[in-house]
Order: sequence, then C-alpha cells, then structure tokens
Amino acid sequence: MSNRPPVCLTHRMELIIRPDQEAAASLVARIVASEVRANPRAVLGLATGSTMEAVYRHLVQMHKGSNLDFSGVRTFNLDEYVGLDANDPHSYRHFMNEHLFRQVNLDLHNTHLPNGRASDLGAECRHYEKLIGDAGGIDLQLLGIGKSGHIGFNEPLSALKSRTREKALTPTTIKQNAPFFGGEDRMPRRAITMGVGTILDARRCILLATGEAKADIIAQAVEGPITSMVTASALQLHPKATVIVDEAAAAKLKEKEYYRWIFANEPEWQEYR
Ligand code: F6R
Repeated sequence: MSNRPPVCLTHRMELIIRPDQEAAASLVARIVASEVRANPRAVLGLATGSTMEAVYRHLVQMHKGSNLDFSGVRTFNLDEYVGLDANDPHSYRHFMNEHLFRQVNLDLHNTHLPNGRASDLGAECRHYEKLIGDAGGIDLQLLGIGKSGHIGFNEPLSALKSRTREKALTPTTIKQNAPFFGGEDRMPRRAITMGVGTILDARRCILLATGEAKADIIAQAVEGPITSMVTASALQLHPKATVIVDEAAAAKLKEKEYYRWIFANEPEWQEYR
C-alpha cells in the first residue's frame, strides 16, 4: 500500500511568487534538482524560450558545483519548428544542446525532441507519443507561457485533450519569436507540439513566467476560466501544477496575499524558503 495521500486530497494548482526573475528561475531549478536526486532515472519534460535560459544556467551550475547527476535522466521537449534541421541554430534541438544537454552529463541518446524535418509529420507525432509512453510517462514537465496563452505551441482553440501534432502558429507567437530569427518572414509558420492532453498526463507540471509582459496572460491562465482560448488555463485541471512567477508577472493577480502566505507557511515549501 502506498502511503501517499489519495489524489483527491492533494489535487491543486499552486501559485508561488518570488521577488525577481533570478529567484523564480532558481526555485524552478531547485525543484528539478530535487526530482533528479530523488529519482536518478527521472523523465523530464523540457521547454525552450528565453524564460528557461536562467533555469538551465542554474542546473548547469548545480551539475558543475554540486555534482547534480543527469546520467540516468531522460528528456522530452515540448516542441520543435517544422522544417528546421537539428543543426539549424534556430532549432529547439540546437537551443537545448547549447543551454543544457552539452553542458551536463546527459546522454544525448536519452534526449528527445520532435523531428521537424520528418517526411511524414503525422507519423512523427504518433511516434513521439509512443516514445513518451515507452519511457513510462513524464515525471516533471517544465513549461513557459506565450503571450497567446499557449503552453508548448498549443495556440488558442487547441483542444484540451489534444495530443502531439502539427500546429500553425498565431500572429502573436510569430511576433513574439520573430526577433530570434531576425524578422517575421524568416520564421517557420508551423511547429510540432505535445498536445494539451499530453502535457496534462505529466505527473507534475511547473510553469515559469517572468516579466511584466506576462502579467496579463498569467492572471487569465490562473484566475480566469478554463478555456481552450488560453491553453495554460488547462493546468487548473491538473492534480499537481505549480505556477512560479516573479513580482512583475504577478502584477495582475487578485489573490497575491494568499499566494504569498502559501509559500511562507505551507510545509511543502519549507526546504525552498
Ligand atoms: C517553448 C514553448 C513555449 C514557450 C513560450 C514562452 O518550448 O513551448 O510555450 O515556453 O512561448 O517563451 P519565452 O520564454 O521566450 O517567453
């Protein structure tokens, strides 16, 4: 018999506010590190994007400074642009190799991203779902949030039960990410992304958002209704979802005092205070 409390007693979404971007990213990295230390064969779901860079920097520091061991860890990224080769400097494979995989002792064979150059994209998506299933599912999924409210590239109107598939990007997302490509016309219009349903299957989800540009969409995702128009709001259905924000991204939340109380008082957060 497991001595874990039944899910119905623990089912919740939590919101944690840290003073600034560094403190928020460091908290996420410490949660990942504690997962990896407790379970050296952990399956991590990973995200790219500028918000995640600080998290990976902290993880690399923990690997180098305090022997955080990634040798048994397996990883699955949320998404990849359609049409980009793994060696393309704009590909998410390249981003992950640079910011994390090559800087720690992860075995590259244990790292997975969808192949945006597959000749049959539908088959590639089904294969990706199968690989996640064969690995036993995702223990801890990291997420960012786009200005369109997306998690992964699940743009508005993505079904909340969707699985890994090809998705067209919204103008908002194209605007958000075009600077990395040196202009909107150089940016791919489509991506392969885990579905909202795929993400909700992870045993734990951690969403990190920092900066004032994310304040509106965080308030909608956390305190607004669950809607396919803001796919991050689907995390309200997840049994163990934690949203970690800095003060700037928390600016539009109504229940800030309550969220601060949770971090300051709940025993679960004691080791991180
Ligand atoms: C990236 C991803 C996206 C980003 C989101 C935030 O793999 O899935 O959902 O997390 O667009 O991006 P940044 O951090 O660049 O604002």
